[in-house]
Amino acid sequence: MNRTRRLRKSENIRRLVRENHVTIDDLIYPLFIEEGKNIENEIVSMPGIKRFSLDRISSELDEITALKIPSVILFGIPVHKDEQGSETWNDNGIIQEAIRFIKKNYPDLYVITDVCFCEYTSHGHCGIIHHGNNADYVDNDTTLMNIAKQTISHAKAGADMIAPSGMMDGTVLTVREALDNTGFTHIPIMAYSVKYASSYYGPFRDAADSAPSFGDRKSYQMDASNRDEALRKATFDDQEGADILMVKPALSYLDIIRDLKNNFDRPIACYNVSGEYAMIKAASEKGWIDGEKVMMESLLSMKRAGADIIITYFAKEVAKVLLR
Ligand code: PBG
Ligand code: ZN
Repeated sequence: MNRTRRLRKSENIRRLVRENHVTIDDLIYPLFIEEGKNIENEIVSMPGIKRFSLDRISSELDEITALKIPSVILFGIPVHKDEQGSETWNDNGIIQEAIRFIKKNYPDLYVITDVCFCEYTSHGHCGIIHHGNNADYVDNDTTLMNIAKQTISHAKAGADMIAPSGMMDGTVLTVREALDNTGFTHIPIMAYSVKYASSYYGPFRDAADSAPSFGDRKSYQMDASNRDEALRKATFDDQEGADILMVKPALSYLDIIRDLKNNFDRPIACYNVSGEYAMIKAASEKGWIDGEKVMMESLLSMKRAGADIIITYFAKEVAKVLLR
């Protein structure tokens, strides 16, 4: 019998030599908050995940805090959409109201806001569309000005952390300066540094009504073929002042998580996205896999790859498994 095998003989010895663990402390739970009243609708492609209006969200927040999940990330679904996504910087917009509601009633819950425009624009893109001669495209630099406005509005409402997800170049510097110039030097930035143009976002776009009405996001999100580019993107965000670097999606990009872990002395986050959640749920509902075990195994693989933080729709279920 060899040495590694001796250390596998019983559960107790396996526990002693185990290298990685998923803990509740690692988890961020996404919340979809819809403007309106009396809304509590399950998202068809994400069983167990709902869109809530603020008047119905307390039971969800009670459960999250009872399970000791440290943090939520908020996505807003507004009534009013326009070309620029101007509702994102309305101080009385749905996200701003949600931040105030949560910080007032659940002061210990750490509130992160996703800063983007796709749920707020009539065309569903993550920025301002420039109508060019040959083609329409997202205008990076004018979008940055609106990112600053949105950031300041979230900070004023009481957000604990800002997570810009739109993949415009220069975003992190813009967010940092916006925060510093308005007295919010203490608010950290979790940068969606390496965000791939992925087909795994499908269920989210249904959930958030944010599918682009024309074209795709390939001009601003990363090509799934590229690995070296991920390091370049993360280097920019690190230099621009990101406090946490994120990789998204997670499961098909575990190599990228490890690259970032090895190359940056920063906490690394990954986003276990909607399609990854939906696949496990669907196969599990059919009885083809053991959903709970596959959930734990896939989250463990993210920890092993090097993630310090996991944003996941499974957060409540994981917490229940870990607490029993
Ligand atoms: C938008 C955004 C997306 C997600 C979070 N914020 C994806 C997109 O580009 O449409 C995806 C999350 C998920 O799939 O769970 N900037
Ligand atoms: Zn977006």
